[in-house]
Amino acid sequence: MVEMITFPKDAKDKFQDTSFQTSHSLSDHPLLQLPALIDLALKMDRDQFEYSSGDTGPNQSFEDIKHIDLEPVEVIRQIEDCGAWMVLKNVETIPEYRKLVEDALDSGARAAGLKSRHDAGMIDAQGFIFVSSAHSTTAFHTDNEQNLFVQLRGRKDFHAFENRDREVVSDAGLESYPGKHRNHAYVDNIEELGTVYELEPGQGIFLPYIWPHWVKSGEEFTISMAITWKTDEIVRNNKLLFANGMMRKVGLPQSPPGVHPMWDNIKVAGYSLSRAMIEPFRQSERSRRFLRGLLFGRKANYYYQTGKEA
Ligand SMILES: [Fe+2]
Repeated sequence: MVEMITFPKDAKDKFQDTSFQTSHSLSDHPLLQLPALIDLALKMDRDQFEYSSGDTGPNQSFEDIKHIDLEPVEVIRQIEDCGAWMVLKNVETIPEYRKLVEDALDSGARAAGLKSRHDAGMIDAQGFIFVSSAHSTTAFHTDNEQNLFVQLRGRKDFHAFENRDREVVSDAGLESYPGKHRNHAYVDNIEELGTVYELEPGQGIFLPYIWPHWVKSGEEFTISMAITWKTDEIVRNNKLLFANGMMRKVGLPQSPPGVHPMWDNIKVAGYSLSRAMIEPFRQSERSRRFLRGLLFGRKANYYYQTGKEA
């Protein structure tokens, strides 16, 4: 059996903890070619796309985002010329892509010497596919999942930053909720703290949870995929980052997770209860958009903006 994901010999001990380069056999997978992605886009809800001009640098604030006046499917069709950066989110909602994501995570777990994704404690398997024009940049940001990132077409330079001491992004910066954009302020002199992975098709990296990163495409348009998961510990930490972000928003800044364990427990319980109350109303795209706007403000629906509306 050809494994989807393979690790270098010395990487097993780093898995789930520190970034390292990987190899994969997904570049020729039929579901990950441009025509298949056009078909996929036709099946997805509008709030599963996010796209903008790729003509930016690593330091890009929410207010500076340049929009693209095209429908999502047209962005993919015209990716060679339209100067865009795009992500198709949660492709695991489509059954054949769910299987691909789960198979890749099983393969990653085996590369780490474990039997399956379940043995590795992987939950909430998700897939995010990136389609980017040549020379486009994904600005400096963090994501709230573990990530096996695979480069499928074209070249990308992936700049990754270890951040355990919060020298690169502060605890307050890591707090996240739908009204807060994931991009962070970037300054040139942090570059010396990072590692640049120069990725070609067949190569990838393991990127740990909330490691800051930014990415630049090379001379040709690129296709890449983030194959992600969480652990129980990450799910809990994300609830705390959400609760702390919301409390900071209303003028009640909180200590980072782990400083006051009892208070953390109360915040996690409060989050879980409010989420359970809202969940029945999140079934359609329309209701999700309405709720995001109502609870978190207009910014929370930023990814609906196109050139026309901007
Ligand atoms: Fe990312």
